[in-house]
Parts: sequence; C-alpha cells; structure tokens
Amino acid sequence: MSLSVIETLAAHRTQRAFTTQPVTDETFERIITAAQQMPTSQYLQAYSLVEVTDPAARAALAKITTMPTVGENGRLLVVLADQHRNAGLVPGAATKRALTEFDRFAGSIEDATLMTAAMVMVAESLGLGSVVLGSINNDTQAVIDLLHLPALTLPVFGLQLGYPTERPEKKPRLPLSAILFKDHYQEPATYQATLRQFDEQLHAYYQGRSSHARDEHLDHMTAEALHSAAKRRDFLKVVRRQGFLPELKN
Ligand SMILES: Cc1cc2nc3c(=O)[nH]c(=O)nc-3n(C[C@H](O)[C@H](O)[C@H](O)COP(=O)(O)O)c2cc1C
Repeated sequence: MSLSVIETLAAHRTQRAFTTQPVTDETFERIITAAQQMPTSQYLQAYSLVEVTDPAARAALAKITTMPTVGENGRLLVVLADQHRNAGLVPGAATKRALTEFDRFAGSIEDATLMTAAMVMVAESLGLGSVVLGSINNDTQAVIDLLHLPALTLPVFGLQLGYPTERPEKKPRLPLSAILFKDHYQEPATYQATLRQFDEQLHAYYQGRSSHARDEHLDHMTAEALHSAAKRRDFLKVVRRQGFLPELKN
C-alpha cells in the first residue's frame, strides 16, 4: 500500500528517530529506483549515493551532524553531487572544465537535490519516515575523507530513512499569497498581514507541540537559522579542492 503524492506531502513531517525494524533491501532499492525517474539536468544523472553501514562511520556522521540518532537505526545515505563519472566517460581537459564550472556544478547539486526530494516522498508514501541532513556539511572535508570521495564529487545531504518511533506535530507552511506571485515579484510589505497571521500559527505550533515546546517567532527563527553559516565557512574552499569552480581566481 502506498499513499498518493498529494497524500504523502499532506502527511509530511521530518522524522529523526527510528525503530529497530529493518528497511529491507527490496524497499530500499524500490525507493531509490523510483526516485531515479526524476528529471535530471541535461540527462547527466550527476549524482551518486553512498550507503553508510559501518557503525564507526555512522558514529562519525552522528558527531558531525550533532544528531545521535544518525548513528542509530534506519538506513543512512550520503547523497553526492557527482561529475566524476561523467568526466571519466569523456576524458579531456575541455570536458572536465565544462563539467566543473558553475553551471554544471549547480546542475549536479540540483540533480542531487531533486533525487533526495523524491526519495523522501517515495519513502514517506510507503510509510517510512525520513530526515534530510544538511548538517553533514558542518564538516564537509571529514565526510569526503570518511567516504573516500574522489575529485569532482561533493557530499550534498545525508538522508536517513526508517520506521519512525513517533509522529511529531506537523509544521505549518507559509500561505500561498506569501510565495506565489503573478507577473512580477511582490515585496513582503504587500503581504504583511498574511505574514503576521502565519507568525501566530507558527507561534501556536511551537507552544503546543509535544516535545521541545517553546516561544518562537518567524523573525527569531530566521535569525537563528543563520548560525549554521558560521560552521560552513570552509564549504567553498572544499568545493574548490574537489575540483569544482575552476573559473574562480583564488
Ligand atoms: C536541505 C535540508 C537540510 C536539512 N538538514 C537537516 C539537518 O541537518 N538536521 C535536521 O534535523 N533536519 C534537517 N532538515 C529538516 C528541516 O529541519 C525540516 O524540513 C524543517 O524544519 C521543516 O520541518 P518538517 O520537514 O517537519 O515540515 C533539513 C531539510 C532540508 C530541506
């Protein structure tokens, strides 16, 4: 039994703790092969997945993400932007340059992102829970070393899939009027009232939720989210070390 796409999205919440019930190889491969049918920029399929099963490696990723649950149950993938395979198919300096400049670098991140989104949806449609882990990039170089990633690859997200231990409350989303514009961009000043209403909804969600309830507001939450940027200042350096963005001077 699987939910429709719309039902799956309507029921989505990120789930971070999983039971010991195994995700079978059959289910795992079904999720991945279904997600592979997503569109892929220039048909380059510029992504790869590394499943991390070694307990020591999972513990290392739990430390990097600061999430002990990453080291525990469910299956854990690292989704890579990957132009290494494509560069091998068409050797030569010109190809390598084209695959690594910003356009194809972005293409590989876009491919990895769409693939991840689809795996989340397929997994959740089958009754599993998931968490996307941008926090693997708290220490990108450590992840590269841990997984022996070659040049022209880059870890984009972790993705943990499993049978969830609990069902957290659903987080609200911005109303359509704040994100859907017609013909030209709308400044937030034109939908202030909507944003205020959303802030009340968000506040009620954070106050009423069954775990980690707190007083929270949209502006404070947005400011807090920026703290991760400090941990990821080296990201661009690592991207360049992996052979991407050769057009940048330094
Ligand atoms: C690109 C991306 C990176 C994320 N990274 C993390 C992460 O490192 N750790 C985590 O617990 N959740 C992570 N999340 C999940 C978000 O926190 C979550 O989607 C958001 O708070 C909305 O909650 P919901 O998915 O339950 O609706 C990430 C989500 C995305 C899309």
